[in-house]
Formats: sequence, structure tokens, C-alpha cells
Amino acid sequence: MVSAKVFFTSAAIALVMGFGFGAPLAAQDLSDNETCLECHEDADRAAPSDPNMVQVHNPEGGFFAEAHEMWSCTDCHDYITEIPHPDEMVAADNQVDCTNCHDETPTK
Ligand code: HEC
Ligand code: HEC
Ligand code: HEC
Repeated sequence: MVSAKVFFTSAAIALVMGFGFGAPLAAQDLSDNETCLECHEDADRAAPSDPNMVQVHNPEGGFFAEAHEMWSCTDCHDYITEIPHPDEMVAADNQVDCTNCHDETPTK
């Protein structure tokens, strides 16, 4: 747990930095895919580590299943809640939970 004191301190620092440099920190909309693509426009998405898992991103930068295009990045990558991402958000054991939308995890 992050203590309230630490939280408020970092919020205050973020606020000061936001004003101080005019950085658009507070304006970042995580549900806007453009926000993510500023850094993740490189199309290369590795295949899932589990070989039985259906790959979602295609190597051209789109999605194998067209139905996935309408979603926000964070509808699937719901563990991404901050930019820049703290280490625990890019940890290898963070996986997209297909069953948030599918009755069961689609397999090959
Ligand atoms: C300021 C640049 C920046 C922005 C904006 C950004 N990211 Fe990232 N993201 C990174 C970096 C750097 C890493 C760690 C290196 C890597 O794995 O590419 C990372 C890692 C990730 C990973 C893990 C990659 C892996 O190897 O498992 C995911 C998923 C991710 N970001 C999703 C998002 C989503 C969704 C958004 C929008 C809400 C977003 N990112 C916005 C820079 C950014
Ligand atoms: C329908 C769910 C879904 C959506 C929507 C989605 N992703 Fe992913 N993403 C995944 C899955 C699952 C993986 C693991 C590899 C795979 O299956 O392609 C992944 C992997 C990643 C990775 C890291 C793995 C790598 O090898 O580079 C990044 C970065 C990433 N996605 C960014 C994004 C961004 C940016 C968006 C929005 C434009 C997005 N994702 C939208 C499901 C999704
Ligand atoms: C944010 C919601 C969402 C998430 C999360 C999600 N999907 Fe989907 N996906 C959909 C929708 C909606 C469809 C189209 C309707 C359908 O077929 O169920 C779809 C369709 C598909 C299809 C093609 C249709 C089919 O069922 O044959 C595949 C394959 C698929 N998804 C794989 C995955 C995998 C693998 C994951 C997890 C890594 C995943 N999806 C996560 C929303 C999602």
C-alpha cells in the first residue's frame, strides 16, 4: 500500500511539474489510443508467451480479429494505469484477461 502521505506528496510534485514546465501531464487520457501510440506505434508485438494462446496483435500494427479494433488499449491492458509506467506495470506476469469480454479464453 502506498501511504496517503506519499501519495499526496507525489501528487503535489506532479502538479508543480505540470505547471512549472507546462507539460501536459494532467491532460493524458489513458483511454485514448493516440496517447499510447505516441510511444507504442512500432508495430512489432511479440507473440504471447503461451503457445496455446491466440495472438491478438498482428505484426502490421493492427489486430487479427477485426472486432478488437474498436476497443481502447486499456480495455485489454487494464493494468496500465500510469504514464510513465511503474515497473510493476510492465512486469512479465501482467497478462490481458480475455475473460473480461469472452466467456472463456480463446485458444488455438
Ligand atoms: C511516454 C511513453 C509511453 C506511453 C505514452 C505509453 N507507454 Fe507503454 N511502455 C513504455 C515503455 C518505455 C515501456 C517498457 C518497454 C517496453 O516493453 O516497450 C512500456 C511498456 C508497456 C507494456 C508492456 C510491454 C511488455 O513488454 O509486456 C504495455 C502493455 C504498455 N506499455 C501499454 C501501454 C498503454 C495501453 C498505453 C496507453 C494508455 C501506454 N503503454 C502508453 C512507454 C510508454
Ligand atoms: C483485445 C485486447 C487488446 C487490445 C485492444 C490491445 N492489446 Fe496490446 N496486447 C494484447 C495481448 C493479448 C498481448 C500479448 C501478445 C499478443 O497476443 O499479441 C498484447 C501485447 C501488447 C504489448 C507488448 C508486447 C510486445 O511484444 O510488444 C504492447 C506494448 C501492447 N500490447 C500495446 C497495445 C496498445 C498500444 C494498444 C492500443 C492501440 C493495445 N495494445 C491494444 C491485447 C490487446
Ligand atoms: C475488451 C474486450 C475484449 C477482450 C479483453 C478480448 N476480446 Fe477478443 N473479441 C472481443 C469482441 C467483442 C469480439 C467479437 C465478438 C466475439 O467473437 O466474441 C472478439 C473476437 C475475438 C476473436 C475472433 C472471434 C472468435 O471468437 O473466433 C478472437 C480469436 C479473440 N477475440 C481473441 C481474444 C483473446 C485471445 C483475448 C485475450 C488475450 C481477447 N480476445 C480479449 C472483445 C475482447
